[in-house]
Amino acid sequence: MLTQPTVARDIVAEPRAVYRARLLNPQSAEAFDYLPDGALVVNADGTIAEVVAASRIADDASHVTLHDFRPHLLIPGLVDVHSHLPQYDAVAMDGGELLSWLQAHIFPAEARFANPEKARDAAERFFRDMLAHGTTTAAVYATIHQEATSVAFSVAERLGMRAIIGKVMMDQNAPPMLCEDTETSLKQSEELCQQWHGRDRGRLQYAFSPRFALTCSMTLMRRAGELARQYNAYVQTHLSENLDELKWVKRLFPQAQHYTDVYRRAGLLGAKTLMAHCVHLSDEEFDLLQKTDTRICHCPSANFFLKSGIMNLVKAMKRHIHVGIGTDVGAGPSLSLFREMGAACLASKARWAMERFYRERLLEVWAEFSMLGARGTQLFRRVLAHLELDEEAHVADPKLVFYLATLGGARALGLDHHIGNFAPGKDADFVVIDTTPIDPTHDESEDQSLDTLLSRLVYRGKGTMVQATFVRGRRVHEEAQGRRAKFCQRLGSC
Ligand code: GUN
Ligand code: ZN
Repeated sequence: MLTQPTVARDIVAEPRAVYRARLLNPQSAEAFDYLPDGALVVNADGTIAEVVAASRIADDASHVTLHDFRPHLLIPGLVDVHSHLPQYDAVAMDGGELLSWLQAHIFPAEARFANPEKARDAAERFFRDMLAHGTTTAAVYATIHQEATSVAFSVAERLGMRAIIGKVMMDQNAPPMLCEDTETSLKQSEELCQQWHGRDRGRLQYAFSPRFALTCSMTLMRRAGELARQYNAYVQTHLSENLDELKWVKRLFPQAQHYTDVYRRAGLLGAKTLMAHCVHLSDEEFDLLQKTDTRICHCPSANFFLKSGIMNLVKAMKRHIHVGIGTDVGAGPSLSLFREMGAACLASKARWAMERFYRERLLEVWAEFSMLGARGTQLFRRVLAHLELDEEAHVADPKLVFYLATLGGARALGLDHHIGNFAPGKDADFVVIDTTPIDPTHDESEDQSLDTLLSRLVYRGKGTMVQATFVRGRRVHEEAQGRRAKFCQRLGSC
């Protein structure tokens, strides 16, 4: 049984509004525009008319509504390329690695979504919290349940969230209550795609979601890929996260050259495919992702939490692979992309430090084997290359990760012609930020340097900074109202 979708409400954008504030506008991983006193002019249909210095707005602009947010900061809406709605109630369950954690905490939490009421309540809290953290666009996994997935769409639609959502597909190696018949999984996924893909002028889109190679037959993966191509929908799945997972994939698919080759054989690689994690990829696998223009979802907190490892972000960037950042709740402990940006920088630094440590240790060892001569040097170089210890010393910086959480994420989703930064014609998805909580001087002055501002946002950013969130020019979260709603919820009144 499918839940009837609620009728899409028209967007109630105000007629030509001007938002005056400090404006931070990423143009690339290196270049940012910063207007200390800027104006974002928004059309009645929620698209951006212009981005200019406030001084350029005429004094007699009485036909527009002026929202003076000074001294706050406006940033583009954040883009979360990987998260699991049903896992929000099971976040921060510390313990094992991926496979034991799925069994102990995640599969039981997902099984509860057989109850649509439970699913509705969870979706409401999940999307509200995303918006409260400044996330305006998200790629989200639901569960295997058709109705719960439909409920997730209808809640995202009502709350004004921009979302790519998919019903999880699993037809093998899953607990009985979550294991589907292959045909049913395909049929229900196709029905959901027909019902929701492209809804509200593309604000909602569908992602066929074969969970990962362990829980999906080759038939299921192949046909999911065919359906995605037929409907021009997304595919989202997990790739190369955990070493035990890799060993199991090898046993299940002995013909495949490596994990990425399993998905290649299934026809799942391509520009509309979102591959989460990609922690243990060989050069050959990176080549394949690059060649097929497949997108990577970098989830650094989740990779730390489950002790999976550290994805080589610098390597992916050097290869010009499109990468976005994912909170990956519930392996990631929070829906905050600010925390995730900080984690991405720290992960990159941890990798750098580890590489340096091992390189130096190996140099010491090699010195002891100098009697091996040229052959020894050759061998040593091969060991360094194999362990990827010969990389140039680069780390991800605040500019890069802020770009990945905005314009880069939009590019990874192929949505950068609509969102990701402030440009005329794009949708006005933005976040109003009070920067005083992240600045020890509590100073929101206009003359703060761009580097300081970005660094503070990335390393110290938190949900409490978000004053309001807008999607297509419509206010979809306001901090004061959010606080009141939570207070009333606790009292059971209002
Ligand atoms: N691999 C397959 N399923 C999952 C999941 O739910 N979370 C994470 N982190 N990895 C997965
Ligand atoms: Zn995931």
